[in-house]
Amino acid sequence: MESGKESMASRERPIYIVGNWKMYHTIQTSLEFLNELIPKVREAVCRIYLAVPFTSIGPMAKDIEENDSNIVIGAQNMHNASEGAFTGEIAAKMLVEAGAEFVILGHSERRRLFHEDNAFINAKVKRALTDGLQPILCIGETSQEREDGMTNEVLKRQLTECLDDIPAEQLENVLLSYEPIWAIGTDKPATPEIAQESHHFCREFLAELGGKEVADKMSILYGGSVKVDNAKALLDQPDIDGLLIGGASLSAVTFNEIISKAAAESGLEDVKADSDTAVEL
Ligand code: 13P
Repeated sequence: MESGKESMASRERPIYIVGNWKMYHTIQTSLEFLNELIPKVREAVCRIYLAVPFTSIGPMAKDIEENDSNIVIGAQNMHNASEGAFTGEIAAKMLVEAGAEFVILGHSERRRLFHEDNAFINAKVKRALTDGLQPILCIGETSQEREDGMTNEVLKRQLTECLDDIPAEQLENVLLSYEPIWAIGTDKPATPEIAQESHHFCREFLAELGGKEVADKMSILYGGSVKVDNAKALLDQPDIDGLLIGGASLSAVTFNEIISKAAAESGLEDVKADSDTAVEL
């Protein structure tokens, strides 16, 4: 496989620093976090997204609006139906009304613990695009699949099935996140080289799905044990356009330090954070 060095320079795409809070933070601690983070990131040159618990979306979105902040709030999951008898589920339009602008879909914890399959995730991606939420589609292999040399096969199948029947002009609005399952919450991140190789494979395959122009515009994030000390090396890779961060996003101090790493990334000065253009559906 080609190294990816010939790819469009990654800095021609915006950098996304995305926190995934999972089932952490109450409304009160979410607002305390924001209070600490907002003043620190006003001048940030990357796009700052936070995927928070459903209960925190409304209060945080309101706080962000009142403080004229560049932080973008989103959800971690949703149902594919526009509404219906689905006890305990939530619809895209409800999230939009609460102030969410994006949604994480297909996270490995949802696939593994809640038995979500590619077809269901595909239906959710379509619903998110239709109802005005920017999807962050997560894909990634298990350690066994990597050991068996199946990584690219797995990524190809997930991309094919999760993005099935989505026209090229809509693909551009999808953020992709490569999250090898063996790296999530393990303190064993993929090396920048391993991550780059998979990101480059994904971009080449996206070009088969939607054309090279579309693939070059799509941002591919890396997730899995991202910390302050490995963020920069990951962002240095030409096909890594951002980071999806679990544990290290829970503290405003460490999350801000990672945002600073993105700012230190060479050439980023030209890519201004612009949350108004984050969702152009
Ligand atoms: P950690 O950063 O805690 O490994 O979690 C990664 C993740 O699952 C982000 O979606």
